[in-house]
Amino acid sequence: MLDPLNRTSYALCTMKQNAQALYDRLHTKLGDLVPEFELEIKAGLALRINELKEERNAVILGHNYMEPALYHSIPDFTGDSLELCRKAATTDKDIIVFCGVRFMAETAKILNPTKTVLIPLPKAGCSLAESITAADVRMLREKYPGVPVVSYVNTYADVKAESDICCTSGNAAKVVESLQSDRVIFLPDEYLAANVANETGKRIIYPTRTRRPSNNGGVELEYEMIGWHGRCEVHEKFTVADIENVRRRLPDVVVLAHPECSREVVAASDFSGSTSEMARYVREVEAARYLLLTECSMGDNIAVENPNREMVRLCSIRCPHMNEITLEQTLAALEETRYVVDLDEDLRKRALRSVERMIGIG
Ligand code: 13P
Ligand code: SF4
Repeated sequence: MLDPLNRTSYALCTMKQNAQALYDRLHTKLGDLVPEFELEIKAGLALRINELKEERNAVILGHNYMEPALYHSIPDFTGDSLELCRKAATTDKDIIVFCGVRFMAETAKILNPTKTVLIPLPKAGCSLAESITAADVRMLREKYPGVPVVSYVNTYADVKAESDICCTSGNAAKVVESLQSDRVIFLPDEYLAANVANETGKRIIYPTRTRRPSNNGGVELEYEMIGWHGRCEVHEKFTVADIENVRRRLPDVVVLAHPECSREVVAASDFSGSTSEMARYVREVEAARYLLLTECSMGDNIAVENPNREMVRLCSIRCPHMNEITLEQTLAALEETRYVVDLDEDLRKRALRSVERMIGIG
């Protein structure tokens, strides 16, 4: 048996070995991307976070947009909104630390209320979630009685509570189709709505009712989607001109666009899907090079995971909200059990119906 002094030096030695192993792992992956001195600091923070995670019986969920050093060191699970919802719903850990933005951490609490859900910084918002309120949804319901309301998961819990069903970028068309309704209220992203309308054959109104002649000479009601003017402040910045410029220089480039980009940008691209669907595309579909029209860190994360793929480094657009979530803030979250996500129980239960209904669809 080790005497106390030896036990301490043994623990120190193991800690040093673990720190070195983590640093080496990060250096192999991110050596070309992150300066060495920064990597040393980040490896030290990540080591402490991983120790605390064990001690506190916590799970860390990391969205695909997390910065590369965080993304590759501390999450137990990484993924898009839908995948992380599923992980949050089924974890048996006591604490869920959500390395993503606030609506995502709220969704984890909606799904798994007995767990302590932490967001490293609550001001990590989202321009889409901020674009609509519960009162707006009630107003639309009054204006269009009986029309089902689909809310993008990028909304706060009070908006989810007023909705019939949620959707993510990975299942929006499927959710809309599942409703088998001629009219759907789709909130709040006008670009996602336009892309879903294109995929499902529906048209968006803001908000006039249109009729067109049917084949048999009668009048047939067009499928309608009632939209809202929310936009993602990151994806609205991509333009068709960006794509044309890159294609001119690199004609064999494959362009992937998140469905929060405009309809024109998605139409000019080769593929559109959720963040994880884009990552899967790069992994599975051989191409000369890829251009990702989405948040910048994700391009870094995909490039690191696919060293044999050539990523076109066009983007410098970071989501300022995702950017708030750092290793330093995550460490403080675990050390101080902050910031706890709490929801009114009645509101949570109402929001849960919409989220569970979506998860049931897939
Ligand atoms: P995903 O669900 O595709 O990961 O998208 C989340 C998001 O916020 C995109 O901007
Ligand atoms: Fe919201 Fe856009 Fe940031 Fe995603 S990238 S969290 S949609 S602001």
